[in-house]
Amino acid sequence: MTSKAKIIRLPGLIDIHVHLRDPGQTQKEDFTSGTSAALAGGFTTVVDMPNNSEPITTVERLLQKRDLAQQKSVAGIGFHYGSLGDNLETFEEAAPLSIGLKLYLNNTTGGYLLDVAYLKKIYAAWPKDKVVLLHVEEDVIDIAIESMKNLKRPVHVCHMPSKEILEKIINAKQSGLPITCGVCPHHLFLTNEDVDKLGNYGRMLPSLKTREDQQYLWEHLDDIDIFESDHAPHTHQEKAEGAHGVPGLETTLPLLLTAEKEGKITREQIIEKCHTNPARIFSIPTSDRTYTEVSLEEYTITNENLFTKCGWSPFDGQKVTGKVVKTVINGKTCFENGKIIATPGDGLVIPS
Ligand code: NCD
Ligand code: ZN
Ligand code: ZN
Repeated sequence: MTSKAKIIRLPGLIDIHVHLRDPGQTQKEDFTSGTSAALAGGFTTVVDMPNNSEPITTVERLLQKRDLAQQKSVAGIGFHYGSLGDNLETFEEAAPLSIGLKLYLNNTTGGYLLDVAYLKKIYAAWPKDKVVLLHVEEDVIDIAIESMKNLKRPVHVCHMPSKEILEKIINAKQSGLPITCGVCPHHLFLTNEDVDKLGNYGRMLPSLKTREDQQYLWEHLDDIDIFESDHAPHTHQEKAEGAHGVPGLETTLPLLLTAEKEGKITREQIIEKCHTNPARIFSIPTSDRTYTEVSLEEYTITNENLFTKCGWSPFDGQKVTGKVVKTVINGKTCFENGKIIATPGDGLVIPS
């Protein structure tokens, strides 16, 4: 490129759905590598899921995790608490230390499947000013929505992959339920047709769906509250052995800015779904002094240039426009020109 690419500034992005694997599975990722990937992808705050090798379903484990994160993180980080239905008495103490409560209504990594018989009780017990997040696929979405009725309880449906599920969410919203929903970049930019080429690296839950499903998501951007990466790193060996999940922190923003260039989404929609809505729905603090700068130049995503410890991306080899060149938190430059400047411990744990 002869002329210098334009540099744009965006408010610090917020990803409410990541799996940084610390403690317990730090062969996949840890708080330092995962929050480094966040900064390199333009994210200044991430919220980590509770499906660690020992699930975060006790206040003791939550406190330990927060301590570890405070020592090791280079970006802002918060945590969703977990429940298998047997820890409702801990909610009062856990909620002020958490961003939300995550429930798994279908089987996924960790196997912390919640019996739906507990759902209504949990919805009622978790404080109303904090969101319940669901991993819920097509077979249980009706029960999940039905159980919300008359409770005035905010619920966020994670990683919606298909027309079927999004249609149901749209109906639930129209009926007045306080429901929000998120979509992952892999469901926007890949389909089941890509699995032939990607093999195990194209496997995640919910799985990649059809082109028609993908099209439906793009046609209903206004009904999607949040983009969440579901950053779910696994080692090459674990992927070969069938682990589900793909990393996403470093590819989300470049993919979205490339879609903007192609006229599929506006800059305002990107900011709304990666910053404004996540901040509002999950009460995540923001600041004018927290932002990221992106050069609108073309580059190729490559496995070699990633900060995530797993060292691969399903988007390896893809040309994109939009390279994060600088990420600033509270006025302090944390990432610049491919290097992490912040030191482990600089990242703040929220709620503080
Ligand atoms: C996630 C993981 O590996 O923790 N995997 C995935 O395929 N999405 C779990 C999850 O978000 O369901
Ligand atoms: Zn999930
Ligand atoms: Zn997830």
